[in-house]
Amino acid sequence: MNDRIFIFDSTLRDGEQTPGAKLNTQEKLQIALQLERLNVDIIEAGFPISSPGDLKAVQQISREVRKPVITALARTKNEDIACAWDAIKEAEKPRIHVFLAASDIHMEKKLRKSPEVCLEEAVTAVKYAKSFTADVEYSLEDATRARLDYMIKVIEAVIDAGATVVNIPDTVGYTTPDEFGMLIKSIRTQVPNIDRVILSVHCHNDLGLAVSNSLSAVTQGARQIECNINGIGERAGNAALEEIVMNMKTRPDRYPYYTEVNTREIYRTSRLVSKLTGIPIPINKAVIGVNAFAHSSGIHQDGVLKDKSTYEIINAETIGGQAAQMILTARSGRHAVRHHLEAMNYQLENGEFETFYQRFLELADKKKEIYNEDLEALMIDVSYTEPIYELDYLQTTSGTKTIPAAVVRLRKDDQKLQEVSSGAGPIDAAYNAVDKIIGFNPRLESFNIRGVTHGRDALGEVSIKLTYEDKNIIGRGMSTDIVEASVKAYLDGINKLFKIQSYLQNGNHQNGRTEKIESL
Ligand code: KIV
Ligand code: ZN
Repeated sequence: MNDRIFIFDSTLRDGEQTPGAKLNTQEKLQIALQLERLNVDIIEAGFPISSPGDLKAVQQISREVRKPVITALARTKNEDIACAWDAIKEAEKPRIHVFLAASDIHMEKKLRKSPEVCLEEAVTAVKYAKSFTADVEYSLEDATRARLDYMIKVIEAVIDAGATVVNIPDTVGYTTPDEFGMLIKSIRTQVPNIDRVILSVHCHNDLGLAVSNSLSAVTQGARQIECNINGIGERAGNAALEEIVMNMKTRPDRYPYYTEVNTREIYRTSRLVSKLTGIPIPINKAVIGVNAFAHSSGIHQDGVLKDKSTYEIINAETIGGQAAQMILTARSGRHAVRHHLEAMNYQLENGEFETFYQRFLELADKKKEIYNEDLEALMIDVSYTEPIYELDYLQTTSGTKTIPAAVVRLRKDDQKLQEVSSGAGPIDAAYNAVDKIIGFNPRLESFNIRGVTHGRDALGEVSIKLTYEDKNIIGRGMSTDIVEASVKAYLDGINKLFKIQSYLQNGNHQNGRTEKIESL
């Protein structure tokens, strides 16, 4: 059985220290509840002594988030520890997390205290925390720049004082994977009572190595990883939780460990944290960036369509994301374009497809990325040659005291089809007559009219948007008579709808309509 790695999430504490990321109590609770669904082992909910708001948020989380351990940060001062306890005392599984500097730089320059005094403070603080709860974590701040012999003394002493977890932070993101692995190994082999605690790591990303350093530590005996959603955190951030978890899940051959994280909640958690903190996710971010499952090169698209495993090592569904996307560009091959059309339910014969593909390339040269709406517009363009229905005759009546009415006659092949109808105005009456002839009525989404030339006899252009099922079509018509221009625009839209319907695969509605057309 592989070893279990405990996932300690500090999004609400170190993550909230990201410049610009301020969360209110409700937002913190929302994130904590989502972290519970993600099934992290420990949630560091805040640093209660830092503000009354933080204290309140940690208290609320402790009351409402019951499954994971809830921990709160404290310096070695008594008031910090008492406040941390006040914040988490109602939690199902409370933990106090105490920290103090371990490096000479921090002790001398920041604390202005000797290593001996710091060691004593550490022990006193752990004992004090222990008087509140059994679960106490101790962190040696700036451990990667500290002297090993001093750290060994501190770790042994805090374990004797009752610490249950000892955390080794790379506070300034300075270490490298091999060096950090060796440090963890030295601690594991040289601290006599180390087996009594869980050894934890907490890596910052100043040199972009936070995830690699954390994983290296795991291979040398660390069993808790402190990390944050989307890698947010102080300065360049902390190790990204989603990267840590997915590395272990994707490469069990290199990392024979497991976590209890429900990876299918990763995508949702990541989006929620980004939305509430206002920190955007870089598009190329590993695991959760929008491009992480998008393929742009023609060769890659072709490979993925033949077999996903050619260019995908993680299935998007594993993290609860959307299936891989193909971004159609001028580099996309026929295979990818045909695949897209088929996904949109369009079926083209080889010759038709070739015409379509050439038009696609022309458009892709001008427009960098081609989306489904572009394909749809192109489809209409390519398929629309001869109109099915043409206006043969139109007569409308309207006025202050008359019911608006219209007589419309349409030509379809060698048939003439006529109907009379009334409506709210002459255009509505004419549209109703057209609907009666054709036998279906698409929804009119918008109607615009503009003069194309000057003067009272100006040409008017009517442009309308029609919707039928999932298709949106623009219809256009022109005339010096605006009622006639409106009917022509309506017919233009309807003709386009019929045309593209004939390229749709297995559309029953379309067959019905074709029958109707044939019977007219
Ligand atoms: O980076 C750090 O050293 C910390 C400690 C408080 C664990 O955040
Ligand atoms: Zn930190």
